[in-house]
Amino acid sequence: MSQYIVQTARYEHLQLAEEICLHMEESAKARGTGIAKRSPDYIKQKMVEGKAVVATTISGRFVGFCYIESWGHGKYVANSGLIVHPDHRKSGIAKEIKQKVFDLTRKKYPASKIFGITTSLAVMKINSALGYKPVTFSELTDDDNFWKGCASCTNYDVLTRTNRKMCLCTGMLYDPAEEEKNKKKPWDFAKQSKLYERWLRFKKHVLFKQPKDKPADEGEADKPKEKESERVLVYSILAIALGCAIYLAA
Ligand SMILES: CC(C)(COP(=O)(O)OP(=O)(O)OC[C@H]1O[C@@H](n2cnc3c(N)ncnc32)[C@H](O)[C@@H]1OP(=O)(O)O)[C@@H](O)C(=O)NCCC(=O)NCCS
Repeated sequence: MSQYIVQTARYEHLQLAEEICLHMEESAKARGTGIAKRSPDYIKQKMVEGKAVVATTISGRFVGFCYIESWGHGKYVANSGLIVHPDHRKSGIAKEIKQKVFDLTRKKYPASKIFGITTSLAVMKINSALGYKPVTFSELTDDDNFWKGCASCTNYDVLTRTNRKMCLCTGMLYDPAEEEKNKKKPWDFAKQSKLYERWLRFKKHVLFKQPKDKPADEGEADKPKEKESERVLVYSILAIALGCAIYLAA
């Protein structure tokens, strides 16, 4: 018998909201990336609306959490705020939580595209098994409120200076219409993870390369901008190449 209970959050779980927020903050600090800030009230609201999944021990102690958010008038939904208590990691609990919240999302929003952005290899692995595919940011929601959530991330300047075209996170999307049409193999994360790790290193190299401090003269003033556009162009070409490689390998 499993040592955990994974279920849609109920009123009895409202008391866990503070602890959940604390763990979210701690893990953001530890990873040095930062995540969208959530207040205990926001977490409670998700629980009350039946849009959250919580994992606890048999005795009711907090183990993990994730919730549903909808964007672009419900055209897109995201399963956000995934967190597992450090004492319970690597035991398959995130996989169970994500499966549960995915099933709940499909039930509540059957026609919506489900997406996520992440730097976490574990999350990419779990999402791939659920049928998500890696996509460019342009295929994700353009709802400003979603992207505003990135403002508390330490890499936010990368997102803004690339006009939301790219950042350290990888975008992943589950499109129910596509899935229905061609029931393709899920993206094979195990096969592709080495490729992904190299891709992430490349992204860091390109995105964190700073333009030169001072232009030599007035005419040089636009060069940093040009360099930035060049980088965006090179990055876009390579992103397409990576997409093709993954598609051909699948
Ligand atoms: C990311 C996180 C939710 C994973 O939780 P978890 O319960 O340890 O994950 P699971 O045990 O269900 O593992 C799922 C898969 O990812 C793999 N995995 C887990 N941690 C990993 C890591 N750090 N690096 C690479 N793979 C990892 C597991 O081996 C497993 O793969 P398998 O299916 O082949 O066995 C947890 O580490 C966490 O809460 N981190 C801090 C918050 C965070 O990063 N949230 C995600 C924001 S997008």
